[in-house]
Amino acid sequence: MKKLKILSLTALTVSVLVGCFPKASEVIRALPVESKEQILAQYNSEQIAEGKVLFTNNCGKCHDLKQPETRNPEQWNRIVKRMIPKAKLNDRDGQLVRAYLIVNAKEN
Ligand code: HEC
Repeated sequence: MKKLKILSLTALTVSVLVGCFPKASEVIRALPVESKEQILAQYNSEQIAEGKVLFTNNCGKCHDLKQPETRNPEQWNRIVKRMIPKAKLNDRDGQLVRAYLIVNAKEN
């Protein structure tokens, strides 16, 4: 009986914690499709440079680094929504990587 109580308490705690901290992917997934100009209006060059470092350190673990100029902004908008959760980046870092990729993307 006691074991059951502990077990259900644990389950309750876990579900509350999960509910309170939405997954990184939810915030990233909700971001609108943005152009280079829209990104440049929101991020400064330091943030873009930090995005590059985060990209280099986190995006080449499972495959070669897919360089920004191999995709256009629209493609990156879509792809990062899948890859940022894979790279386990938090919302802030994920958005910086996204900004770096979109700003340096090839033209459409
Ligand atoms: C945990 C492993 C993992 C990590 C970390 C990872 N990827 Fe991927 N990536 C994959 C796999 C698996 C595929 C192929 C399947 C797919 O497209 O979903 C892929 C495919 C891709 C593609 C090709 C998709 C397309 O539609 O053209 C790009 C571009 C890409 N990744 C970029 C990134 C970037 C940028 C990061 C860092 C934020 C990253 N990946 C981190 C596993 C990973």
